[in-house]
Amino acid sequence: MLEEIRKIEESLESKFDSIKNVNDLNEIRTYFLGKKGVVSALGPMMGSLSVEEKKECGAKLNELRNNISSRLDALKEKFENAALDEKLKNESIDVTLPSTKVNIGSANMLERIIEEVEELFMSMGYDVVDGPEVEEDRFNFELLNIPKGHAARDAQDTFYLKDDEILLRSQTSGVQARVMLEHEGKEPIRMICPGKTYRRDDDDATHSHQFMQIEGLLVEDNISLCDLKGTFDILAKKLFGSDINTRFRPSYYQFTEPSVEMDISCFNCKGKGCSLCKQTGWITVGGAGMVHPNVLNMCGYDANKWNGFAFGFGAERLAMLKYGISDIRTFYMTDLRELRNFDRGEED
Ligand code: DAH
Repeated sequence: MLEEIRKIEESLESKFDSIKNVNDLNEIRTYFLGKKGVVSALGPMMGSLSVEEKKECGAKLNELRNNISSRLDALKEKFENAALDEKLKNESIDVTLPSTKVNIGSANMLERIIEEVEELFMSMGYDVVDGPEVEEDRFNFELLNIPKGHAARDAQDTFYLKDDEILLRSQTSGVQARVMLEHEGKEPIRMICPGKTYRRDDDDATHSHQFMQIEGLLVEDNISLCDLKGTFDILAKKLFGSDINTRFRPSYYQFTEPSVEMDISCFNCKGKGCSLCKQTGWITVGGAGMVHPNVLNMCGYDANKWNGFAFGFGAERLAMLKYGISDIRTFYMTDLRELRNFDRGEED
């Protein structure tokens, strides 16, 4: 038995030398320690030995088995580490190579203006609401005090989808009526609604068949034109600078009474007169007024108890003024060179 053990020990080196990879290693493990392996085969021979011999051979056999097993384990780890090193070597990143250029887009300047206006009004307790672009005649005109056949409809000719009743909205003012009806004449309202509007206009530098408006409505009680003026003043200073002055000029809209045009002092010439303000020192940015009692009543708000103001801005006009853009089509032509002029510098 001791002779058998010795023979196995002698064969160890040459067997281990023959191991070149994990497959060889598994074969050698089976050769020595597998169920029918040469070491395992010695086990049954123990039965015929004396107690003394059993002790000695048993210890030797155990030592041999442990020795082989731990050498195999160590080799296995070595192979695994080598494989990992190889993998890492192939996957290594050359940080000196030039990077792939990633183009990051930026917010369109129209979107930015709208965001800025939204933030300001939200800070004053206004909700930002949405309305449908495909609108009913009722909301776009009738509930705004513009009945069928009214001359004011001419200036707002739009695209009709079904008979005379369904149209692409020509103004966001219809959302005023929608919001009032929703609140059922029961509670005060503060809302703004930015959104797309449509007109049957021929496109040129200052006209577009599609454009954006920002509508506003406040309904409470005891509201005066002063509240509207103060609100407009805050907006003008936020968008165009703290040295901007504001003024109202009398105007006419069917859904407000009295109605005004909202002007800001020209930020370009500081009111002295230049080509931007057509030498007047003032630039008109929107229309507004006190909500007409007829509109309040038609939309479920008792005009004896409630009153309020409404306003509407052309979003493109605000953005054109703020960013010095001279052609409204710039917003819709998706010319990247134009759009990049106004990005926030997020790109490298
Ligand atoms: N809807 C008007 C337009 O498209 C703009 C406007 C004027 C809106 C006065 C208002 C307002 O809410 O009070 O020309």
